[in-house]
Amino acid sequence: MATALDSAAQDQIFRTARTHNVLGGSVTDQQLRDIYQLMILGPTSANCSPARIVFVRSRQAKERLRPALSSTNLDKTMAAPVTAIIAYDLEFYERLPVLFPHNPDAINWFKGNAAVIQTTAFRNGSLQGAYFIIAARALGLDCGPMSGFDNAKIDAEFFPDSKIKSNFLCNLGVGDPWKLFPRSPRMSFEQVCQIA
Ligand SMILES: Cc1cc2nc3c(=O)[nH]c(=O)nc-3n(C[C@H](O)[C@H](O)[C@H](O)COP(=O)(O)O)c2cc1C
Repeated sequence: MATALDSAAQDQIFRTARTHNVLGGSVTDQQLRDIYQLMILGPTSANCSPARIVFVRSRQAKERLRPALSSTNLDKTMAAPVTAIIAYDLEFYERLPVLFPHNPDAINWFKGNAAVIQTTAFRNGSLQGAYFIIAARALGLDCGPMSGFDNAKIDAEFFPDSKIKSNFLCNLGVGDPWKLFPRSPRMSFEQVCQIA
């Protein structure tokens, strides 16, 4: 049986981890691959794995992001070492024969059912986005997730003629703890949870 991570590891992933607006340092291609190799092991329904990611690093690629960004997210995103577009593929089910081999019929749970496809892709793609943040933090990087952008513009620019849709953006780099806002309050266990 696994044991709990030590307190320092819990701190790194949750207690001292923050959403960073100012991200610097450098992020290597190997770090991007390492994030992927961890996050892809997080669970999704029928192992459907709908998340698709574009790591935007080059100056030219950052300029393609620019017109879609909200004014408050513009400068910090242009300055971050890497911005990940966390997206989801509405044709994820085509890969189920490989990804979920113990039920060859799984592809037919989705084919022709747009509502189930959308719900499944968005639910599991969002979960994978959360695994992405946890993986990046576990590897010593900081994150700045954002939904303040024009999804349609990002989709037209980065995913034309495809069924891939953007979900959220996540800046990656090394955060500056001195530039953080104070941590906002969270709700208590009693406010949020029931044990039935
Ligand atoms: C999906 C998502 C979208 C967000 N969108 C924005 C955004 O567009 N702009 C922004 O400045 N912060 C954005 N945030 C940051 C949140 O406000 C921040 O994570 C939250 O206040 C918790 O901050 P903390 O991690 O420092 O405790 C977003 C966070 C998430 C997870």
